[in-house]
Amino acid sequence: MPTPQDDDERRRSALVESLPEVSDDTPLMAELRQDARRRIELRGRRFPRPSETRVITVANQKGGVGKTTTTVNLAAALAQSGLNVLVLDNDPQGNASTALGIEHSAGTPSIYEVLVDGAPMHEAVQESPDVPNLFCLPATIELSGAEIELVSMVARETRLRGALDEYLRWREQNGLERIDYVFVDCPPSLGLLTVNAFVVGREVLIPIQCEYYALEGLSQLLKTIQLIQAHLNRDLHVSTILLTMYDARTNLAQQVAGEVREHFPDRTLRTTVPRSVRISEAPSYGQTVLTYDPGSSGALAYLEAAREIAERGADVDGGETAGQDAVAAVDDAPHESGRLVPVGTHSPDSSDDFPAQEDQ
Ligand SMILES: Nc1ncnc2c1ncn2[C@@H]1O[C@H](COP(=O)(O)OP(=O)(O)OP(=O)(O)O)[C@@H](O)[C@H]1O
Ligand SMILES: [Mg+2]
Repeated sequence: MPTPQDDDERRRSALVESLPEVSDDTPLMAELRQDARRRIELRGRRFPRPSETRVITVANQKGGVGKTTTTVNLAAALAQSGLNVLVLDNDPQGNASTALGIEHSAGTPSIYEVLVDGAPMHEAVQESPDVPNLFCLPATIELSGAEIELVSMVARETRLRGALDEYLRWREQNGLERIDYVFVDCPPSLGLLTVNAFVVGREVLIPIQCEYYALEGLSQLLKTIQLIQAHLNRDLHVSTILLTMYDARTNLAQQVAGEVREHFPDRTLRTTVPRSVRISEAPSYGQTVLTYDPGSSGALAYLEAAREIAERGADVDGGETAGQDAVAAVDDAPHESGRLVPVGTHSPDSSDDFPAQEDQ
């Protein structure tokens, strides 16, 4: 007896099959076909609810690679698909709060009070004005001092984790629905704020920009994650790598994507996020691209990436990620390809100091 879901699946497949075939030498047609397929497959679809809250830290100490864009758009895509999502804006720049249309002027209760004063998270969490079931703990400019203030504090690495655990319990006690996904947006550094984000998360999502120097700094990031695993959070693992700002017309983007997939075959999402003007415009309207232009290539790509994350589950590689093999593979990268990391500028850092220092 076919269920309504089976019927829906059959209808979507039939529509996708009816799309005309296009050859590889017509990139524009190929893009239009892909967007049409994504629209048919993803519009109005509900994503599976994870068995427990998944906490995903979005990190890369390289600046401007798409951490915040990825955080807010994946969060909006999952919330639009029927899940409860919380974004922790852990970057003094407050870009995630801006993009989600969340008030974060100086003095607004924020992650700063949670981290530094030990204030309860529920007093600072706000709901998105545009997407139901999407919540955000904002960051204000005060957070820029937290890195230094935290240094002398008790349990300085685990304060965010304690606060989130307490918030999730508070929701349960108050009869609120469970949060399905928590995304933590990180600053472009490997200091104490990022360490807190690695201690609160179980999974790490690394956005990689499809540009020259893509893998530079990655071995330092993986080593930091190993240190956190060893000392503070045994469960932490890199579950997901997302290729961002991908321009299929350039050889460089294809080479970077190929190399990343070679090093991390199981963790790299099939979906790549294209370079898209609509994605970069959305934050200036206090919106994600999912609400700003839901039919655009960028919105559809984030929706598809969110679906992959939801359907793959949390344990992509059985927890072996960021082990010695991954670090060694990335360390070898410049010698293998001679392209992604120019030989001579790549300096694997053997320092075992903890917490790790900011990358070059
Ligand atoms: N797919 C994309 N297409 C076009 N522009 C993009 C895309 N993704 C991100 N951008 C733009 O690139 C810039 C950097 O992105 P974003 O702020 O997400 O990076 P980040 O890693 O969070 O930066 P930071 O390290 O400063 O926190 C922003 O201006 C953003 O709008
Ligand atoms: Mg950012």
